[in-house]
This record gives sequence, C-alpha cells and structure tokens, in this order.
Amino acid sequence: MKIMEICGAQELSGTIRISGAKNATVALIPAAILTDEEATICNIPEITDTEALCDILRLLEVKVSRASESVIINPKSMKNIDITEEYSNKLRASYYFMGALLGKYKKAVMYFPGGCSIGARPIDQHLKGFEALGATITVEDNKYVVEAKELKGANIYLDIASVGATINIMLAAVKAKGVTIIDNAAKEPEIVNVATFLNNMGAKIVGAGTSTIKITGVEYLHKCFHEVIPDRIEAGTYIIIGALCGNKLKVDNLIPEHIEALLSKLEEIGVEMEIGPDYVIVSKKDTYKATTVKTGVFPGFATDLQQVFSVLLTQSKGKSKVTETIFENRFMHIPFLNKLGANIRVSGQTATFLGPTKLKGANVAATDLRAGAALVAAGLKAEGKTVITNVEHILRGYEQIVEKLGDVGAKIVIKEI
Ligand code: UD1
Repeated sequence: MKIMEICGAQELSGTIRISGAKNATVALIPAAILTDEEATICNIPEITDTEALCDILRLLEVKVSRASESVIINPKSMKNIDITEEYSNKLRASYYFMGALLGKYKKAVMYFPGGCSIGARPIDQHLKGFEALGATITVEDNKYVVEAKELKGANIYLDIASVGATINIMLAAVKAKGVTIIDNAAKEPEIVNVATFLNNMGAKIVGAGTSTIKITGVEYLHKCFHEVIPDRIEAGTYIIIGALCGNKLKVDNLIPEHIEALLSKLEEIGVEMEIGPDYVIVSKKDTYKATTVKTGVFPGFATDLQQVFSVLLTQSKGKSKVTETIFENRFMHIPFLNKLGANIRVSGQTATFLGPTKLKGANVAATDLRAGAALVAAGLKAEGKTVITNVEHILRGYEQIVEKLGDVGAKIVIKEI
C-alpha cells in the first residue's frame, strides 16, 4: 500500500507544467482502434489510467509503443477479444471500448466499468445511443454484449448531457451508415479533442463543443498524429494550491478559456492572479471572501474541481456553500477536511462552510481521485504532518504529483508500506 506524507505550510514558488488531459486521453486511446493504420498521440500523461487502457489494447492484441510523451497505437492485427472484469473495472473509461469495438466490429463484449465511487453512475444513455444505432444489448450479471448486424445513423436525444455517453456514441457512429445527430450533447473540451482526433483520421464530425453534434458515417479511418489538450482539472488544482500556499506560483501550459468558471470564482473571492495566454501566476493571501458555488456541465463550474476548491473555502471569511448537482456522492472528503480542522456541515447535496479555520495535519484517506487532490491541497496548507492513505486514487489522474509539487518547494513524499 502507498501512503503520501506532506509536511505542510511551506511556501510554493516556481513553475508547474500542466500535462495532457486525463479525460481526453482515456477516450483517445480506445478511439485509436477505429483506424486500420497507425495513430500517434502525443502529450499523453503518465498516469495509471493510461497504463490500464494500454493493457486493454494489449489484451486486444493491438501493438502499443511509448516514446517519451507519445503513444503509438497500431491496431492492424488486433482481435475483438472479450474485455474481462479484471481489465474493465480498473477505471471508468474502459467503457469507451464498448463504443469503439461496436463501431469497428459491430460487436463488443465487456464487463461493467470501474472508477471512482462518486455516485450510481449508470450507463443507460450510452446504451440508448447504441440501440438507436441498431445494436441489441444483453446484460448478464455485469457482462454486456452489444452487437449489431448493421449500424445505421440515427437521431439521439440525451436525457442528460453526459460526457461519457456523448463520446461513446460518437465512437460507435463514426463508421455507421448515414447521419447521426446527438442532441443535448455534452460540450466539454475533451469531447472537442476526441472529435478532432477522429476527424484527423477521416471522420466527418461537426458541432463538437455545442449541444448538437452531427456525425456522417465514413467507411475507413486512416493514420494520424494528434495532440492531447492540457488537463484543465490538473491546472485548476494547482491554481487553487497556489491560492493556498503560492508565492508567485506559475501554473504553465494551460488554456484559460477551459477554466473560466473557476477563474471567475477565484477572482470573486479575492484571489490575485496574473492570467496569461497559457499560464496563471498566483500567490496566497491570508483570507478570502465567502461564496456560493454550484457545479454544472461545461462551461459551468466543473464537478471535478469542486472538492479541491472547497479547501479554499475553509480559508474564506464567513459562510460559504457548495452545491453538487452532477454526482450524488462527492462530499466524501468533507469528514477528512473537518478532521484537519475545517468547520463544514453537509446536508443533502449542499455543504456549508464556516471560515476561516486553521488547518492542522492529521491522518486522512483519499476516497476517490478528486477527494484525494483536495486532501493534498489541505495537507499542503495545514501546519504539521498529514498522512494520506489510498494514494492509488490520486495517481490515477495526476502525473508526477510528488515531483511537480516537490520542485516548487513542497515537502511531500510517497512511501510504500
Ligand atoms: C466524466 C469525467 C468525470 C467528470 C464527469 C462530469 C471522464 C473519464 N470522466 O465522467 O471526471 O466528473 O464527466 O464532468 O471523462 N449519467 C446517467 N446515465 C448515463 C450517463 C451518465 O445517469 O448513461 C449521469 C451520471 O451518473 C452523472 C451525470 O449523468 O450523474 C454526468 O455523468 P457523465 O457526464 O456521463 O460523467 P462521466 O462521463 O462518467
């Protein structure tokens, strides 16, 4: 088991470079099997979710090679093998193989995906999309068999603007006969990045980034080279850490437009930042103003930043409120923040913060990826030593987190116990 030890209250200065986006990468890797040639994807983050997806590629007998930050995927001699639970339950995004295999072979057999326990996370909208394209779905225990004689373009209205369903339906529809329209599609930047990748391979997708996506099926997808966009959630995490502990901390290689909701909230509570074309420089202040935050689909306030942002609210004067609207179970970090000295009460989907409170190191556990990031931020702010268990969750999504924070002055280590 890995634990993370943080000796808090250090000032952080220097530059942190943002890696490629996890949530784009985890869709791009399965999407790459749709070509019959070779796909090179650069700016791939070295996180355990990437490794888990490359393991699935190897299971399918796809040739995978890594060269520094790139991955070269050659599916020429791949086979449509059932994806067993051992592979599927390592991460949520394994479900993108459902859409990609269906799109390529008109058949996918895999087990229900894993991922963070932040809510029920059903996949009914994905399946509804596959069915509209002509697939039949059989579910036995946790095993899904999705198959079609022929995939035909369809009009699909998503009841929820789901990121996963939007991408999965794009993957299944890209080689279908005719035109598919996805209405009430999710608009996250990662969806645009995946659509651009598919278009680079010869797909015909327009409208990604809006709520209506039109996909005209093509027969063949060719070789391509593609770059992953910077990780907006990693960027937001380090900017928040800068507002807690920074002394001119530069968070570099990001796209400010992707985190506008966060940057506006930070400005509103009094965080001082210099926002450049691809960087943010941020320093800590003693206290901030209280505020109200409600998570929403893009371009709203990202649910993935809610937990880390909440650490800043423990340093805000007065009563703040956070309402989570996307997932039912995204307050699991709160009892641990309270253990570190915060004063937070949860009622239903709203957490109420009374601040400011001094944070003091303690033993805490990362219950999921972003809860873990929140505890890292809190541990960096707290006086004394914080020990975080279940660090594996954090390593699923943050590339070289210990090295990046250590380089700007944090006292942070991971130990195997
Ligand atoms: C993706 C991101 C995750 C982010 C989330 C919301 C990846 C790998 N993960 O997750 O980091 O927090 O978007 O921005 O990209 N839902 C249904 N039925 C479905 C699909 C979703 O009810 O078929 C519900 C979910 O339970 C959730 C909401 O819709 O309550 C949004 O989920 P969705 O956008 O699909 O999130 P993910 O793709 O799982």
